[in-house]
Amino acid sequence: MLKEAPASDRAIRVHPRESGFGAEVTGVDLSRPLPPAALAAIRDAWAKHAVLSFPDQPLTLDELEAFTLQMGPFGDDPFIAPMPGRPNVLELRREPDEKAPNFGGGWHSDWSFQPAPPSATILRSEVTPPVGGDTLFVDAARAYEDLSDTMKAMLAPLRAIHSAGRPYGASGLFARETEKRTMQIISSAEADKTHPHPLVRTHPVTGRKALFVSPTYTVGVEGLTDMEADAVLGFLYKHLLQDRYRLRHTWKPGMLLMWDNRCTMHFAEGGYDGHLRVMHRTTVAGDVPV
Ligand code: SIN
Repeated sequence: MLKEAPASDRAIRVHPRESGFGAEVTGVDLSRPLPPAALAAIRDAWAKHAVLSFPDQPLTLDELEAFTLQMGPFGDDPFIAPMPGRPNVLELRREPDEKAPNFGGGWHSDWSFQPAPPSATILRSEVTPPVGGDTLFVDAARAYEDLSDTMKAMLAPLRAIHSAGRPYGASGLFARETEKRTMQIISSAEADKTHPHPLVRTHPVTGRKALFVSPTYTVGVEGLTDMEADAVLGFLYKHLLQDRYRLRHTWKPGMLLMWDNRCTMHFAEGGYDGHLRVMHRTTVAGDVPV
């Protein structure tokens, strides 16, 4: 049974980064049911800043699940075996002796190949390495807004094709790897299915438009030849990955990060071979992109 929220939760503070992309949230205890005002403040900050970090939140797995459910129903996490007895929690664990590339080490928006990809991903750090292991984000809304009106008009009718095949397909990256991996990845022909989404999607809460493509999961653009799609997507990735749209999150143990998959891409950086890294991850169900 979760405890009642203390009065101190009324002192919730949102500290945005200078760019407005990303914010740190303090003065709230996520291990307890959130009072409506605190939940509203978190939702508001999340809509405004897209990536929220909550330091000093060493939640148990029960508390992580309970916090997630306050944000919305669990999303569906395919192709990775969940924690025993916890179908909605993934353990992202990399042992000190692992040499396989770290999980999440390619730019992506979580499960964008699903008909209704998760709105949020929530990641709580358990063990963090002394070096490396940062998570990087790009602000796909501001990147869209900075495009010329001519480019926006060209992109407006396009639908990008998403697939999990490159990483999780029957002959995808994980199926071919030979190095030891602690996380149990379930490669499958299912992953090779494709699903189209608007290349520019509109955020259901803020109404802001954002580029919704990624090098990991976008495999083409409807109506364009492969060469044409490569040219359009190649330009968009170069544009998105500029320093000015980036945010770097450096972890400490017991932090919780919640990001908005509808207007960001992220990348899990390596650089911590020889060290243990353990994170626990949930997702919140999302809408069909429009
Ligand atoms: C991911 O969800 O892509 C992994 C992020 C991380 O481990 O930093």
